[in-house]
Amino acid sequence: MIVSIILAAGEGTRMLSDKPKVLHKICGKSLAGFVVDACKKAGIEKNVLVLGHGKEKVKKAYENTNLVFVEQAMGDGNPYGTGFAVKCAIGEISDEDRVIVLNGDTPLIDSETLKKLLNYKLDENLAAIILTAKFENPFGYGRIVRDEFGNVERIVEEKDASEAEKNICEVNSGIYVFDGKKLKECINKISCNNAKNEMYLTDIIEILKSRGEIIGAYMLEDKNEIFGINSKVELAEAARILREKINREFMASGVILIDPASTYIDVGVKIGRDTIIYPGSFIEGKTSIGEGVEIIGSTRIVNSEIGDGSHIESSLIEDSKIGAGVKLGPYAHIRPNSTIEDGVKVGNFVEVKNSTLQSGTKASHLTYIGDADVGRDVNFGCGTITVNYDGKNKFRTKIEDGAFIGCNANLIAPVEIGKDAFIAAGSTITDKVSGGELAIARSKQKNIIGWVKKVQKEDER
Ligand code: UD1
Ligand code: CA
Repeated sequence: MIVSIILAAGEGTRMLSDKPKVLHKICGKSLAGFVVDACKKAGIEKNVLVLGHGKEKVKKAYENTNLVFVEQAMGDGNPYGTGFAVKCAIGEISDEDRVIVLNGDTPLIDSETLKKLLNYKLDENLAAIILTAKFENPFGYGRIVRDEFGNVERIVEEKDASEAEKNICEVNSGIYVFDGKKLKECINKISCNNAKNEMYLTDIIEILKSRGEIIGAYMLEDKNEIFGINSKVELAEAARILREKINREFMASGVILIDPASTYIDVGVKIGRDTIIYPGSFIEGKTSIGEGVEIIGSTRIVNSEIGDGSHIESSLIEDSKIGAGVKLGPYAHIRPNSTIEDGVKVGNFVEVKNSTLQSGTKASHLTYIGDADVGRDVNFGCGTITVNYDGKNKFRTKIEDGAFIGCNANLIAPVEIGKDAFIAAGSTITDKVSGGELAIARSKQKNIIGWVKKVQKEDER
């Protein structure tokens, strides 16, 4: 069987963060999440995640992902380091297994590369294969030391490298395939005799060599794939690399990005052809956007669906469904669990929450629609408020097809407005209005003739 061991127990000291390193995200997905998914996509069925630092948080983040969790013993004189992390997971390995070890902080790794790596046959001669690449600036990575025939001899870490070794550009990705039996036999032989006083997994290469084994190396063309993240600068750099890739794929599939460098689309988002996205937009989570949609000016869309041909400007949409031909914004806020059907208009400074607006309905300006079931072709005047909350409980408002809600009306929920009903501007509605009725609920206007002149005269006195 092929088993992966994904190392995610490190402290991530260089991140200077309260969050475990592997839980930091790029393009909406956690670092170790990418590694786990690449393993699964490569067809690996048993995936072991080694936890340690921040283990509760890490465990929770991946609780429903069908992983085997193994804890790396921490403190109490236990050593630190990638070698010890693998040692803690060795109980999950059988002699017959082929084991792929990966660092949890290398999110750009491609499943196709893992497949190729796993295709190499390990036999009596070949005990392990290291995935490597050449970096112009290899600083921080372990270097691949080869003998005069080009065979891999060992890996030397930055802090332990001589000046000559520091000049080696071929680096260790932290991804290796091992023969299960040989890994088990040698993992106990690793010492902490190095600059960091850690158990380096990389030392296993030299140990295998000393037993007469041969070590293979598979050098990648695309060095970005093994980019390891140790700091927040590298986190941003990895996000930039991934963003560029995601955006290039969208453009190749017919999406128009006015400025791809400043368009932020998460992994897993779907976008149809001829959709135009202007700079400064964030398309996040499980979002799916149809064809011919226009998204302009700092719009953020989270976990939502947008239908074909809709036009969205400078707005925030969360966990909602927007139909086709909808006009939204500028400055609209669609809060979770809302359904905006085809052809609806939600205009300037309108907030919708946990509501349905059926097709053809318009709320063009300065309106709050919360906990409401709104029918078709309803017209909301400027400044309408569904008064849904009494400080303790929330109540629903029901508005049937064709109703006209005049400007500055308060609809105090729970309340129902019938089909084609007409609510006079400025009304505060507390009782049901039936179909076809006009409701006026405001004090009657009173005009006092000559009042202004009278007051002026009094002032002169
Ligand atoms: C490691 C490699 C280095 C390689 C680089 C590639 C070692 C000794 N060095 O260095 O050769 O070029 O990755 O990115 O392996 N971890 C644990 N337990 C620990 C320590 C670390 O699970 O006790 C995990 C971390 O969470 C991380 C991974 O192992 O996901 C790598 O650890 P890190 O400290 O980042 O290693 P590097 O110094 O980058
Ligand atoms: Ca690292």
